[in-house]
Amino acid sequence: MDPIDVAEFALSAPEIDQHKASPARIYDYWLGGSQNFAVDRELGRRMADTLPSLPAVARANRAFLGRIVHHLAAEHGIDQFLDLGSGVPTMQNVHEVAREINPRAAVAYVDMDPVAVEHARMLLSGISDVSVLLADLREPESVLRHPLLAETLDLDRPVAVLMFAVLHFMPNAREILQAYTDVVAPGSFIALSHAETQAATSQEQASAATDYTRATGVSVVSRSPADLGALLAELTVESPGVVRIQEWRTEPGAEDTEAEDAEMRMYGALARKPDTDRADAVQ
Ligand SMILES: C[S@@+](CC[C@H](N)C(=O)[O-])C[C@H]1O[C@@H](n2cnc3c(N)ncnc32)[C@H](O)[C@@H]1O
Repeated sequence: MDPIDVAEFALSAPEIDQHKASPARIYDYWLGGSQNFAVDRELGRRMADTLPSLPAVARANRAFLGRIVHHLAAEHGIDQFLDLGSGVPTMQNVHEVAREINPRAAVAYVDMDPVAVEHARMLLSGISDVSVLLADLREPESVLRHPLLAETLDLDRPVAVLMFAVLHFMPNAREILQAYTDVVAPGSFIALSHAETQAATSQEQASAATDYTRATGVSVVSRSPADLGALLAELTVESPGVVRIQEWRTEPGAEDTEAEDAEMRMYGALARKPDTDRADAVQ
Protein backbone atom coordinates (compact mmCIF):
# COMPACT_ATOMS: atom_id res chain seq x y z
CA MET A 1 0.00 0.00 0.00
CA ASP A 2 1.22 3.52 -0.79
CA PRO A 3 2.11 5.70 2.17
CA ILE A 4 -0.39 8.43 3.02
CA ASP A 5 0.20 11.84 1.56
CA VAL A 6 1.06 13.62 4.78
CA ALA A 7 0.30 17.09 3.47
CA GLU A 8 -3.11 16.02 2.17
CA PHE A 9 -3.85 14.14 5.36
CA ALA A 10 -2.96 17.19 7.46
CA LEU A 11 -5.46 19.31 5.53
CA SER A 12 -8.25 16.86 6.29
CA ALA A 13 -7.26 16.54 9.95
CA PRO A 14 -7.43 19.99 11.53
CA GLU A 15 -5.84 18.83 14.81
CA ILE A 16 -2.51 18.46 12.98
CA ASP A 17 -0.34 21.54 13.06
CA GLN A 18 1.88 21.28 9.97
CA HIS A 19 4.06 24.08 11.28
CA LYS A 20 5.00 22.38 14.53
CA ALA A 21 7.55 19.58 14.55
CA SER A 22 6.62 16.30 16.24
CA PRO A 23 8.88 13.70 17.94
CA ALA A 24 7.22 10.86 15.98
CA ARG A 25 7.82 12.47 12.59
CA ILE A 26 11.38 13.69 13.33
CA TYR A 27 12.27 10.13 14.36
CA ASP A 28 10.64 8.83 11.17
CA TYR A 29 12.80 11.28 9.21
CA TRP A 30 16.01 10.03 10.91
CA LEU A 31 14.97 6.48 10.05
CA GLY A 32 14.53 7.41 6.39
CA GLY A 33 10.72 7.29 6.45
CA SER A 34 8.30 9.42 4.44
CA GLN A 35 5.75 10.41 7.09
CA ASN A 36 7.12 13.82 7.99
CA PHE A 37 6.56 17.49 7.15
CA ALA A 38 9.09 20.15 6.09
CA VAL A 39 9.18 21.48 9.65
CA ASP A 40 10.19 18.00 10.94
CA ARG A 41 12.87 17.57 8.29
CA GLU A 42 14.32 21.01 8.99
CA LEU A 43 14.64 20.35 12.72
CA GLY A 44 15.83 16.77 12.11
CA ARG A 45 18.54 18.05 9.77
CA ARG A 46 19.57 20.87 12.10
CA MET A 47 19.91 18.46 15.02
CA ALA A 48 21.82 15.93 12.94
CA ASP A 49 24.19 18.72 11.81
CA THR A 50 24.98 19.31 15.47
CA LEU A 51 24.82 15.68 16.61
CA PRO A 52 25.65 13.62 13.50
CA SER A 53 25.06 10.26 15.14
CA LEU A 54 21.32 10.84 15.78
CA PRO A 55 20.09 8.84 12.76
CA ALA A 56 22.45 6.00 13.72
CA VAL A 57 21.10 6.07 17.28
CA ALA A 58 17.53 5.88 15.92
CA ARG A 59 18.49 2.86 13.79
CA ALA A 60 20.27 1.21 16.73
CA ASN A 61 17.16 1.75 18.85
CA ARG A 62 14.97 0.10 16.23
CA ALA A 63 17.41 -2.82 15.97
CA PHE A 64 17.35 -3.17 19.77
CA LEU A 65 13.54 -3.25 19.72
CA GLY A 66 13.73 -6.04 17.12
CA ARG A 67 16.16 -8.09 19.25
CA ILE A 68 13.97 -7.73 22.33
CA VAL A 69 10.78 -8.77 20.51
CA HIS A 70 12.52 -11.71 18.85
CA HIS A 71 13.96 -12.81 22.21
CA LEU A 72 10.58 -12.52 23.97
CA ALA A 73 8.78 -14.53 21.30
CA ALA A 74 11.50 -17.14 20.79
CA GLU A 75 12.83 -17.65 24.33
CA HIS A 76 9.83 -16.81 26.51
CA GLY A 77 6.92 -17.74 24.26
CA ILE A 78 5.39 -14.26 24.57
CA ASP A 79 2.64 -13.93 21.99
CA GLN A 80 1.12 -10.55 22.86
CA PHE A 81 2.71 -7.11 22.87
CA LEU A 82 1.57 -3.67 23.99
CA ASP A 83 3.78 -1.15 22.15
CA LEU A 84 3.43 2.21 23.94
CA GLY A 85 4.64 5.23 21.95
CA SER A 86 4.97 2.97 18.91
CA GLY A 87 5.67 5.78 16.41
CA VAL A 88 5.31 5.75 12.65
CA PRO A 89 5.62 2.16 11.40
CA THR A 90 8.76 2.90 9.37
CA MET A 91 10.71 -0.34 9.68
CA GLN A 92 10.92 -3.66 11.57
CA ASN A 93 7.54 -3.41 13.21
CA VAL A 94 6.73 -5.44 16.29
CA HIS A 95 4.11 -7.73 14.72
CA GLU A 96 6.46 -8.49 11.80
CA VAL A 97 9.33 -9.50 14.08
CA ALA A 98 7.10 -11.47 16.49
CA ARG A 99 5.29 -13.27 13.68
CA GLU A 100 8.55 -14.62 12.30
CA ILE A 101 8.49 -16.75 15.46
CA ASN A 102 4.76 -17.04 16.13
CA PRO A 103 2.41 -16.13 13.25
CA ARG A 104 -0.44 -15.69 15.73
CA ALA A 105 1.29 -13.04 17.88
CA ALA A 106 -1.04 -10.13 18.73
CA VAL A 107 0.06 -6.50 18.97
CA ALA A 108 -1.64 -3.31 20.17
CA TYR A 109 0.19 -0.20 18.99
CA VAL A 110 -0.43 3.02 20.95
CA ASP A 111 0.61 6.53 19.99
CA MET A 112 -0.75 10.02 20.48
CA ASP A 113 0.59 11.43 17.22
CA PRO A 114 -2.29 11.47 14.68
CA VAL A 115 0.01 11.09 11.66
CA ALA A 116 1.74 8.06 13.19
CA VAL A 117 -1.61 6.50 14.09
CA GLU A 118 -3.26 7.20 10.73
CA HIS A 119 -0.31 5.79 8.82
CA ALA A 120 -0.21 2.72 11.06
CA ARG A 121 -3.94 2.16 10.61
CA MET A 122 -3.62 2.30 6.83
CA LEU A 123 -0.65 -0.04 6.71
CA LEU A 124 -2.07 -2.50 9.19
CA SER A 125 -5.74 -2.55 8.26
CA GLY A 126 -7.00 -6.02 7.56
CA ILE A 127 -4.21 -7.69 9.57
CA SER A 128 -5.85 -9.79 12.26
CA ASP A 129 -4.96 -9.37 15.93
CA VAL A 130 -3.16 -6.08 15.35
CA SER A 131 -4.74 -2.82 16.51
CA VAL A 132 -3.68 0.82 16.58
CA LEU A 133 -4.91 3.06 19.39
CA LEU A 134 -4.78 6.84 19.41
CA ALA A 135 -4.19 7.46 23.12
CA ASP A 136 -1.92 9.22 25.59
CA LEU A 137 0.09 6.62 27.47
CA ARG A 138 0.44 9.03 30.41
CA GLU A 139 -3.22 8.31 31.04
CA PRO A 140 -3.00 4.53 31.51
CA GLU A 141 -6.77 4.19 31.98
CA SER A 142 -7.38 5.59 28.50
CA VAL A 143 -5.13 2.87 27.08
CA LEU A 144 -6.13 0.00 29.34
CA ARG A 145 -9.87 0.61 29.02
CA HIS A 146 -9.73 1.22 25.28
CA PRO A 147 -12.15 -1.18 23.54
CA LEU A 148 -9.57 -2.05 20.87
CA LEU A 149 -7.13 -3.17 23.55
CA ALA A 150 -9.58 -5.69 24.97
CA GLU A 151 -10.27 -6.96 21.44
CA THR A 152 -6.56 -7.53 20.81
CA LEU A 153 -4.85 -8.54 24.06
CA ASP A 154 -5.80 -10.71 27.02
CA LEU A 155 -4.27 -8.98 30.02
CA ASP A 156 -4.97 -12.02 32.19
CA ARG A 157 -2.10 -13.73 30.35
CA PRO A 158 1.54 -12.56 30.19
CA VAL A 159 2.12 -9.68 27.83
CA ALA A 160 5.21 -7.66 26.88
CA VAL A 161 4.84 -3.92 27.49
CA LEU A 162 7.27 -2.05 25.24
CA MET A 163 8.28 1.53 26.05
CA PHE A 164 10.99 2.40 23.55
CA ALA A 165 12.45 5.90 23.32
CA VAL A 166 9.40 7.39 25.00
CA LEU A 167 9.81 7.42 28.80
CA HIS A 168 12.46 10.14 28.44
CA PHE A 169 9.63 12.52 27.52
CA MET A 170 8.04 11.94 30.93
CA PRO A 171 9.06 13.45 34.26
CA ASN A 172 6.73 11.02 36.10
CA ALA A 173 8.06 7.85 34.44
CA ARG A 174 7.93 5.86 37.70
CA GLU A 175 4.21 6.46 38.19
CA ILE A 176 3.46 5.55 34.57
CA LEU A 177 5.56 2.40 34.61
CA GLN A 178 3.93 1.35 37.85
CA ALA A 179 0.42 1.76 36.44
CA TYR A 180 1.14 -0.66 33.59
CA THR A 181 3.15 -3.07 35.75
CA ASP A 182 0.31 -3.31 38.27
CA VAL A 183 -2.30 -4.44 35.74
CA VAL A 184 -0.34 -6.98 33.71
CA ALA A 185 -0.27 -10.66 34.69
CA PRO A 186 2.69 -12.15 36.58
CA GLY A 187 5.24 -13.42 34.08
CA SER A 188 4.71 -10.34 31.91
CA PHE A 189 7.67 -8.30 30.68
CA ILE A 190 8.48 -4.60 30.58
CA ALA A 191 11.09 -3.57 28.02
CA LEU A 192 12.40 -0.06 27.57
CA SER A 193 14.99 2.12 25.94
CA HIS A 194 15.83 5.57 27.23
CA ALA A 195 18.13 8.48 26.42
CA GLU A 196 20.83 9.75 28.72
CA THR A 197 21.83 13.22 27.64
CA GLN A 198 23.67 14.36 30.75
CA ALA A 199 26.80 12.27 30.27
CA ALA A 200 28.05 14.39 27.38
CA THR A 201 27.17 17.91 28.41
CA SER A 202 28.70 19.61 25.42
CA GLN A 203 27.55 23.01 24.27
CA GLU A 204 26.28 21.40 21.04
CA GLN A 205 24.16 18.90 22.90
CA ALA A 206 22.62 21.56 25.10
CA SER A 207 21.75 23.76 22.14
CA ALA A 208 20.29 20.83 20.17
CA ALA A 209 18.10 19.93 23.17
CA THR A 210 16.89 23.53 23.47
CA ASP A 211 16.15 23.60 19.74
CA TYR A 212 14.15 20.33 20.01
CA THR A 213 12.11 21.54 22.97
CA ARG A 214 11.39 24.90 21.39
CA ALA A 215 10.22 23.33 18.13
CA THR A 216 8.22 20.39 19.51
CA GLY A 217 7.13 21.69 22.92
CA VAL A 218 8.53 18.46 24.42
CA SER A 219 11.45 18.26 26.87
CA VAL A 220 13.74 15.28 27.25
CA VAL A 221 14.40 14.01 30.79
CA SER A 222 17.86 12.47 31.01
CA ARG A 223 18.13 9.29 33.13
CA SER A 224 21.29 7.33 33.92
CA PRO A 225 21.51 3.52 33.94
CA ALA A 226 21.24 3.69 37.75
CA ASP A 227 18.03 5.74 37.46
CA LEU A 228 16.60 3.14 35.07
CA GLY A 229 17.62 0.32 37.42
CA ALA A 230 15.73 2.11 40.21
CA LEU A 231 12.64 2.43 38.00
CA LEU A 232 12.70 -1.35 37.46
CA ALA A 233 13.57 -2.25 41.06
CA GLU A 234 10.40 -4.26 41.72
CA LEU A 235 10.96 -6.39 38.63
CA THR A 236 13.53 -9.01 37.73
CA VAL A 237 15.90 -7.46 35.22
CA GLU A 238 17.19 -10.03 32.72
CA SER A 239 20.85 -10.40 31.85
CA PRO A 240 22.78 -8.36 30.71
CA GLY A 241 20.92 -5.76 32.84
CA VAL A 242 20.59 -2.07 32.06
CA VAL A 243 23.13 -1.56 29.29
CA ARG A 244 23.72 0.56 26.23
CA ILE A 245 21.27 -0.62 23.61
CA GLN A 246 24.08 -1.68 21.26
CA GLU A 247 25.32 -4.08 23.94
CA TRP A 248 22.07 -5.93 24.58
CA ARG A 249 22.56 -9.46 23.18
CA THR A 250 24.17 -8.17 20.00
CA GLU A 251 25.67 -10.74 17.66
CA PRO A 252 29.47 -10.31 17.55
CA GLY A 253 30.36 -8.14 14.56
CA ALA A 254 26.88 -6.61 14.28
CA GLU A 255 27.64 -3.52 16.35
CA ASP A 256 26.84 -0.14 14.83
CA THR A 257 30.05 1.79 15.40
CA GLU A 258 28.49 5.12 14.50
CA ALA A 259 25.89 4.68 17.24
CA GLU A 260 28.63 3.40 19.59
CA ASP A 261 30.38 6.75 19.42
CA ALA A 262 27.17 8.74 19.79
CA GLU A 263 27.09 11.91 21.82
CA MET A 264 23.65 10.89 23.12
CA ARG A 265 23.57 7.52 24.85
CA MET A 266 20.60 5.21 24.84
CA TYR A 267 20.22 2.57 27.52
CA GLY A 268 17.82 -0.33 27.55
CA ALA A 269 16.63 -3.24 29.64
CA LEU A 270 14.20 -6.15 29.74
CA ALA A 271 12.50 -6.94 33.05
CA ARG A 272 9.98 -9.55 34.15
CA LYS A 273 7.13 -9.18 36.61
CA PRO A 274 7.72 -11.98 39.12
CA ASP A 275 5.22 -14.81 39.53
CA THR A 276 2.77 -14.17 42.36
CA ASP A 277 4.00 -17.17 44.39
CA ARG A 278 7.59 -15.99 44.22
CA ALA A 279 6.62 -12.41 45.10
CA ASP A 280 4.62 -13.72 48.10
CA ALA A 281 7.53 -15.90 49.17
CA VAL A 282 9.89 -12.93 49.19
CA GLN A 283 7.60 -10.85 51.43
C1 LIG B 1 11.14 8.56 19.42
S1 LIG B 1 9.61 7.84 18.97
C2 LIG B 1 9.91 6.12 19.33
C3 LIG B 1 9.07 5.19 18.49
C4 LIG B 1 9.25 3.70 18.81
N1 LIG B 1 8.82 3.41 20.16
C5 LIG B 1 10.69 3.28 18.66
O1 LIG B 1 11.41 3.20 19.67
O2 LIG B 1 11.13 3.02 17.55
C6 LIG B 1 8.58 8.29 20.36
C7 LIG B 1 7.11 8.06 20.09
O3 LIG B 1 6.39 8.19 21.31
C8 LIG B 1 5.19 8.89 21.03
N2 LIG B 1 4.72 9.50 22.29
C9 LIG B 1 5.33 10.49 23.00
N3 LIG B 1 4.60 10.78 24.10
C10 LIG B 1 3.51 9.97 24.07
C11 LIG B 1 2.39 9.80 24.92
N4 LIG B 1 2.25 10.54 26.02
N5 LIG B 1 1.44 8.90 24.58
C12 LIG B 1 1.57 8.14 23.44
N6 LIG B 1 2.62 8.26 22.61
C13 LIG B 1 3.58 9.15 22.91
C14 LIG B 1 5.57 9.90 19.97
O4 LIG B 1 4.44 10.37 19.27
C15 LIG B 1 6.50 9.06 19.13
O5 LIG B 1 5.81 8.39 18.11
